[in-house]
Amino acid sequence: MSYPATVRVLFLLLATAFMPIASAGDDPVHERHELMEGVGDAAKPIGKMFKGERDYDMEVVMASLKTWHDASMRFGDLFPVGSETGEGTEAAPAIWEDRAGFDEALDKFRVATEAALAASPETLEAAKPAIGPVFETCKGCHDTYRIEDE
Ligand code: HEC
Repeated sequence: MSYPATVRVLFLLLATAFMPIASAGDDPVHERHELMEGVGDAAKPIGKMFKGERDYDMEVVMASLKTWHDASMRFGDLFPVGSETGEGTEAAPAIWEDRAGFDEALDKFRVATEAALAASPETLEAAKPAIGPVFETCKGCHDTYRIEDE
């Protein structure tokens, strides 16, 4: 069966209008949860090293920094309009109310991660001042843009 031309044009317009949402993946709420879970997991071994609970391991540290950097590049695409709620999201409404502020917090995280990567810390003593600022940016963003339910 064939639709009248006007209806086909309407379909085309609708398809284009929803493209940015589609490119963020079918389930951005799930994706950003998974991504942040990976960011959290990457922080665990570094936290233990900082507390002296495990030996310093530069390879592990650099892998975590790369995980964070990858996340900083992808995270911003996972908050399309329409994904404010659902699946127990911890994303705060502030992300959509103050998108510029959120993007800035994300950019600080990316820049701090890049600086830590460039520092390539070989010892715990070098790692603390290089990675401390990254942890500051985690907190800086969570304070405003994440609702912690625990
Ligand atoms: C630019 C903002 C931003 C930065 C930077 C950021 N986070 Fe998050 N984080 C969020 C948001 C928003 C959520 C909630 C996401 C959701 O539920 O949709 C979250 C959730 C989490 C979670 C919970 C994941 C889960 O299981 O749901 C952990 C753990 C976490 N972040 C750790 C970190 C760590 C560690 C860093 C720094 C290395 C970091 N975050 C940096 C915004 C950020």
